[in-house]
Amino acid sequence: MSTEAIDWEGLWREGKTMWDAGQPSPALVALFDSQDTRSLIPEHGQGLVPGCGSGYDVVFLANKNRHVTGIDLSKTCVDLLVKNHPNATADNYDFKCADFYNFDIPNGGYDLAYDYTFLCAMPVALRPDWAARYSAIIKKGGVLITLMYPIDGHEGGPPFAVNEQL
Ligand SMILES: C[S@@+](CC[C@H](N)C(=O)[O-])C[C@H]1O[C@@H](n2cnc3c(N)ncnc32)[C@H](O)[C@@H]1O
Repeated sequence: MSTEAIDWEGLWREGKTMWDAGQPSPALVALFDSQDTRSLIPEHGQGLVPGCGSGYDVVFLANKNRHVTGIDLSKTCVDLLVKNHPNATADNYDFKCADFYNFDIPNGGYDLAYDYTFLCAMPVALRPDWAARYSAIIKKGGVLITLMYPIDGHEGGPPFAVNEQL
């Protein structure tokens, strides 16, 4: 499986990471700020952030009880992550260069996955594969947090906008 519609490696090589907010997703932080939603998020185990980009959400989610792996298709991106996070192992996270649709799932799967500006980066035809892949990699009782952005007809990116039906 590939996402040939966009040359992600080329964008990373040229530094064209216009999506990069420089901080963890505010909506993810808000989920943790509210006890109502925080209590729904598994506190232990293995987490995954596919298409992690600069990795802010990986760092935010990792703690001593929850190991988080960020994966990204772009080698340039992951080389940068590894260089910029020398203490990742000690802080219970890591980064891997991998294709979300084709990588080895750790034994038992993931307790938590966080998808942000990843679904909307996928060609529409891949959406059934996206859903099937999450279904395969998240363990029973695990949680997928995915922020459907944008849903308001916003123009100027991201490339494959979603709506409430799709
Ligand atoms: C729009 S960016 C979002 C990055 C990050 N989530 C953020 O919010 O800053 C999408 C990222 O997904 C990565 N990507 C695209 N297809 C992928 C795939 N099949 N597997 C893993 N990563 C992928 C790209 O290299 C890119 O870094």
